[in-house]
Amino acid sequence: MAKKNIRDLNLKGKKVLMRVDFNVPMKAGVITDDNRIVQALPTIKHAINEGGKVILFSHLGRVKSVEDLAKNSLAPVAKRLEELLGQPVKFVPATRGAELEAAIDALNEGEVVMFENTRYEDLEGKKESKNDAELGAYWASLGDVFVNDAFGTAHRAHASNQGIASHHPENSVSGFLLEKEIKFIGGAVDEPVRPFVAILGGAKVSDKISVIENLLEKADKVMICGAMAYTFFKAQGLEVGKSKCEADFVDYAKGLLEKANGKIVLPVDVASVVVDPEEAAADFFGAIAKAEITYVPVTEINPEAQGLDCGPKTIELFKQELQGAKTVVWNGPAGVFEVEKFAVGTKSICEALANLEGATTIIGGGDSAAAAISMGYESKFSHISTGGGASLEYLEGKSLPGVACLSEAK
Ligand code: 3PG
Repeated sequence: MAKKNIRDLNLKGKKVLMRVDFNVPMKAGVITDDNRIVQALPTIKHAINEGGKVILFSHLGRVKSVEDLAKNSLAPVAKRLEELLGQPVKFVPATRGAELEAAIDALNEGEVVMFENTRYEDLEGKKESKNDAELGAYWASLGDVFVNDAFGTAHRAHASNQGIASHHPENSVSGFLLEKEIKFIGGAVDEPVRPFVAILGGAKVSDKISVIENLLEKADKVMICGAMAYTFFKAQGLEVGKSKCEADFVDYAKGLLEKANGKIVLPVDVASVVVDPEEAAADFFGAIAKAEITYVPVTEINPEAQGLDCGPKTIELFKQELQGAKTVVWNGPAGVFEVEKFAVGTKSICEALANLEGATTIIGGGDSAAAAISMGYESKFSHISTGGGASLEYLEGKSLPGVACLSEAK
């Protein structure tokens, strides 16, 4: 059933509670990637332009102790938002109380208040993360309508999404970003234009079991890359040397290969290196950056070597397999892209998808999204998800509580 969207509400003069996902990466208090803030701008601007009184809130990181408070403050995020919006954003350093309530009461139409990290409420009794009923009711009481634009957090049933929505059963709506995420990811998985190809990479089979299973059912082809592929090589009886491999999942991978009926496409060669184990233990990225790459067929991996990226033959194979695809969903990098010389596979996937004509191309969040953006491919995809865990759960076919809690469109 479709959900109500912010465009369905009359916002003029209304106090608009808006949950965004501003859980952005930071280093020493400086935002290193503001994509999630940028992606929320259309919804925030719409509420401003429609005369809403905008009350923004988000989590940032995880708050388990008093030491986590200062480093997870949203104050720098409010500053960045102010720059991006080109208008003041009043930041209230509290999650409840008189100062917050006064700031909300003082709002004029089109003005914006942002309050402190919702997970500050986790310090005692995990109130936000455990969806504390009193907290959800309190936050809900601060506004007239609720807009959820936090797709990245939609797999959580927290006070700041499900809790608030339960008190605004008629007026809890999606923002434009959340709507777009559902349209692209949900559309690809549930009603794909075929051929539908999934590319799954990343470190562990164990993290992606349900995604692989769901996509094996729905996609026409599932291409597997990244460290995950080595568990499949092992399942085929191949030597994987010192490559990452999940011994406990080898049988599982074998079972998948058997039931996949040829749908699974695996790499045929890898970029392999031999590194000194002590050096790698001290500084893995440093050690692999200096190591010399040998490209070998997957049948010839040296017992002392480890594979860190796809080889050139795999890149060609993946390009061929992608020819004619009309829907492609990609999640998980093809190699250790953080080190330039092992970023070739990931970059080649970006390039291949960027050049696919007439296809809907979607990156399902996480590391592959960060890689594609940092490599300059941001505008070359139909959609790059802002969700990590949320997009994975959506690709698994699960219902997301942060979406399920919204009002049904009539
Ligand atoms: C994310 O970055 O995936 C979301 O913001 C959710 O964060 P969480 O895993 O800490 O709930």
